[in-house]
Amino acid sequence: MESRQNHFVWGVGTSAYQIEGAWDTDGKSPSIWDTMAHTLPMSNTGDIACDHYHRLDEDLDLLSEIGVNAYHFSTAWTRVLPNGVGEPNTKGLAFYDRLVDGLLERDIEPWLTLYHWDLPEMLQDRGGWANRESVEWFTEYASVMAEHFSGRVRNWMTINEPWVVAVLGHLEGLFAPGISDWPTTLAAGHHLLMAHGSATRAIKERIPDAQVGLSLDCRPAVPASTGSADAAAAHHFDGFRNRWFFDPVFGKGYPRDMVATYISKGRLDPALIQPGDEDLIATPIDFCGINYYTSVRVAAGSEETDEAEGPVGIDPPDNYTEMGWLVDPDALEEFLLRVHDEWSPKSIIVTENGASYGTAPDENGVVRDTKRIEYLDSHIEATMRARERGAPVDGYFVWSFLDNLEWRAGYSQRFGIVWVDHDTQQRILKDSAYWYRDRIAQNSAD
Ligand code: FCB
Repeated sequence: MESRQNHFVWGVGTSAYQIEGAWDTDGKSPSIWDTMAHTLPMSNTGDIACDHYHRLDEDLDLLSEIGVNAYHFSTAWTRVLPNGVGEPNTKGLAFYDRLVDGLLERDIEPWLTLYHWDLPEMLQDRGGWANRESVEWFTEYASVMAEHFSGRVRNWMTINEPWVVAVLGHLEGLFAPGISDWPTTLAAGHHLLMAHGSATRAIKERIPDAQVGLSLDCRPAVPASTGSADAAAAHHFDGFRNRWFFDPVFGKGYPRDMVATYISKGRLDPALIQPGDEDLIATPIDFCGINYYTSVRVAAGSEETDEAEGPVGIDPPDNYTEMGWLVDPDALEEFLLRVHDEWSPKSIIVTENGASYGTAPDENGVVRDTKRIEYLDSHIEATMRARERGAPVDGYFVWSFLDNLEWRAGYSQRFGIVWVDHDTQQRILKDSAYWYRDRIAQNSAD
């Protein structure tokens, strides 16, 4: 990382499936999200999404207009290695060449995530993340990418939000691949973390000055009441949601209380975690990416749900975004400090933060999304307070650059600072984009 005093990373983020479209173009094979979108009654698919694949230059120019110094995107494994492993697809790589080169020409640092949830369907057919071989598959993909982009991409994120992949994909069955089974969830989670460690090594072998990390999603939890049952529930929720991933990545091993609970409930086969696995997971990284949106109050009975977002009704309705997520910037500040105290990464980057508000263009075509500006302002201030209080926070990325496909919620949720008309694909910079441009400029002038 460059000196903390001189360089702060200001960016926006997206992911491949949410914006690219072109789902079967130029040799791309289907991912598990293509399969889910095509076979389940999802209101929308990523077949076209924001058509970013065909509108790359226009979108790169918008990034310049906003004035970010970094752009966080993911690459689609299915474009690069249509069979999951084996022969790379030159046309797929060529698209990311244009993206990376276009960023560099505009003085925007590429921050590349290798896995934002779109596993090749062909690998799911072989068991997906529940198969231990997935560690090798992912390492091969990471190696191909690192070799290809060496000298051009310095900042790498291996896996985005392993909790979401493991739990929403393999326990709640809401996200691809749509499985509902505890042992499969914990196997998938374990292999994702091993894949992260193994890919980190593969990237660093090929790019010695690479900065490698991953994006961990977090949900700070407080007990819903002062009662001991709620306190125990909040602690359990923290284990299920946060510690299960942060602890092993930072060399503490899986949390013992959760291991004991999972074994006693028949969810975790102790043979899953083999000698050496935790060392691989704890491969040193250069930064910890934090994705933060909201905090939760946990009551007894809701310690293993993702729905513990409220309880809705305690706070004024205004304090929730359109995702139903509580707005709580102070919890971000506290969590960043906790990451520093408890897990001590060398550097912390807020790799995702943002809010869903549907504010549409007015009769003059202006998008006055003041609620989003308030959200971003308060969370950037919280990030800066954590930095002043000693947490090594070196960057912040708004989620998201464009209004895009919000997974199971389809196009009903708008997180972008750029409005996208999903019928015409017209883009309009929202007021929040202009506000962010000024915020970045103000910081550079400090
Ligand atoms: C995160 C995802 C991102 C987006 C936001 C709202 O969990 O990483 O793709 O859906 O939530």
